[in-house]
Amino acid sequence: MKKFNLLFAMVAAILLLAACNQSKKEMVTKELYGNFKGKEVYLLTLTNKSGNVLKLTNFGARITWIEVPDRNGNKDNITFGFDTFDGMIGGDPYYGAVVGRYANRIAKGKFTLDGVEYTLPINNGPNSLHGGPAGWHSQAWDTEIPEDTDFPTVKFTYKSPDMEAGFPGNMTVEALYTWTDNSEIIIDYTLTTDKRTVFNITNHAYFNLHGAGIGDILDHQLVIKASKFVAVDTFLIPTGELRQVEGTPFDFNTPHTVGERIAQDYDQLKFANGYDHTFVFDNNEEVDATVYEPVSGRFMEVISDQPGVQFYCGNFLNGTRIGYGGKPYTHRSGLCLETGHFPDSPNHPDFPSTVLNPGETFKSRTIYRFSVK
Ligand code: GAL
Repeated sequence: MKKFNLLFAMVAAILLLAACNQSKKEMVTKELYGNFKGKEVYLLTLTNKSGNVLKLTNFGARITWIEVPDRNGNKDNITFGFDTFDGMIGGDPYYGAVVGRYANRIAKGKFTLDGVEYTLPINNGPNSLHGGPAGWHSQAWDTEIPEDTDFPTVKFTYKSPDMEAGFPGNMTVEALYTWTDNSEIIIDYTLTTDKRTVFNITNHAYFNLHGAGIGDILDHQLVIKASKFVAVDTFLIPTGELRQVEGTPFDFNTPHTVGERIAQDYDQLKFANGYDHTFVFDNNEEVDATVYEPVSGRFMEVISDQPGVQFYCGNFLNGTRIGYGGKPYTHRSGLCLETGHFPDSPNHPDFPSTVLNPGETFKSRTIYRFSVK
């Protein structure tokens, strides 16, 4: 009888192990999505225990699909993307991409480090934006599916060569995505360099909590825990002023819809044609920003260890980009909360430093957490 029990326990254990392995395998699936400059591009589908789906691609280490329920349990994708890989390479909207080497603008595409002046590609008026036209968003990264993880996880790695887009130093960049069972996207960035350099890394996902391609985001209720924001000129280059939000349409310390004050006669809203500014996190609460969309009840929390967040409300979207299901992404139909450093920091010694030295490892984490209210 005892022997029988032992045998039974062993068989049960083997079956359980097999089932675990099986479910691990099913958590992340990988399929060929396209080819870019001789490298394979994959679509990775991560399914968590709640049955919610996150899709990623190694082209630009992008988030291409976030499928989460509304308060009635109806699921929809709430981020921008394309039906095919061709859509993604046919233009440059940065949808869901990891942006580098320097996310946001560097004035006139010039900065000086240790007495050497560096020149970057100009691709936004007179300025350099998002690492130039061939930034990290438009490179095929290496893909790895780590084995021993509790949640579906994918690691993308990119080796950015010395002087790529004008920046010094060979950099190794890792973006590790984890899709937890309570529907948090955790992005862990790890960067190293072999020469002193500057960088600013972010994720450029567009969110519309109604569902991607369904109306605009003006009714989304936003909170950003920031008492200051980075004031800019008409080219969206920081003037150097960190302006108090108090008494301005930039005070999101209590919930306000995006649209509520967007048309106010306020210089910064006019310069940017809406919100397109870095908010300086107070960093004294666990959650740095939240977005609530009252129709679906979807709620997103943003948690970051970075100095700020670029809140961009899709002012440049004009409907010419056709996304999932043939839906155009129209003016202000998506918003971005791009965590990171301030624009043009290499030209502003009083801003938090964006310098990385050889021998140092930069590590940073941003979390986007989805639920309903
Ligand atoms: C944002 C930036 C906007 C715009 C957008 C891409 O990060 O703040 O000004 O350039 O990217 O269209």
